[in-house]
Amino acid sequence: MQVFVTRRIPREGLAALSQAGVCSIQQWDSDEPIPRSELLAGVAGKHGLLCLLSDRIDKEVLDAAGSNLKIISTLSVGVDHLALEEIKKRGIRVGYTPDILTDATAELSVALLLATCRRLPESVEEVKNGGWTTWKPLWMCGYGLSDSTVGIIGLGRIVPLAKLAEESDFVAVTCSLTPDTKGMCNKDFFSRMKKTSVFINTSRGAVVNQEDLYQALVSGQIAAAGLDVTTPEPLPTDHPLLSLKNCVILPHIGSATYATRSAMSVLSANNLLAGLKGESMPSELQL
Ligand code: GLV
Repeated sequence: MQVFVTRRIPREGLAALSQAGVCSIQQWDSDEPIPRSELLAGVAGKHGLLCLLSDRIDKEVLDAAGSNLKIISTLSVGVDHLALEEIKKRGIRVGYTPDILTDATAELSVALLLATCRRLPESVEEVKNGGWTTWKPLWMCGYGLSDSTVGIIGLGRIVPLAKLAEESDFVAVTCSLTPDTKGMCNKDFFSRMKKTSVFINTSRGAVVNQEDLYQALVSGQIAAAGLDVTTPEPLPTDHPLLSLKNCVILPHIGSATYATRSAMSVLSANNLLAGLKGESMPSELQL
């Protein structure tokens, strides 16, 4: 059996895949994304595909792969880059990497929240550019977590979104991107938030209407935003959001610890191998 791996991945994952003796591997062995034409050529005739969240696996890719393709294993917990209906129709099974990246992503969410509300990037910049002239009682003040209400979208019992926006001092978006959540944080949502509230997104950029977020930040409708995810990714360096001091943007690094990425690569390899052998996967997406 043949598999296609769309990027350079941690060596532990590649070793698990190659040492199993189940499949031959063709890989786009680069840190940079595979060009679409190479992806379409690479998947042709393959039985398995190991892909990333930045690879759009749509009808065109599935057609290019052909009927051999039985398993798609994504090195991510998010599956919004996969054309799930089309995949299901073709009887292709999907593996993904839930749970093992939860702690790393939670840590990053808290780090981003604190960096945003306590204005860390702005403060670091002031030290470098000479803006730090003396200790000033009114300088670089932000908002603290003590006695605050944190609203998490994507956790626990259902809370009406409007109520969460109105009552939270911090709003953290952690939900999946689905047709239901696309553009959910929009003008109406931001207009309900307090002027002193801070908005954080570590899920997917498209959950947020970015134009509406920009307006909310510029007009002072909300205090600040921290984004680990944007639309598109990467965000163009001349994007208006990058001109705002009250917006902290990270390059989608929620799961980026060495241990987590290694574990994700091994899990995605094991999902692929189990699928190729017709066994149940350690983490299979129920389609
Ligand atoms: C990260 O965004 C993931 O889906 O794993």
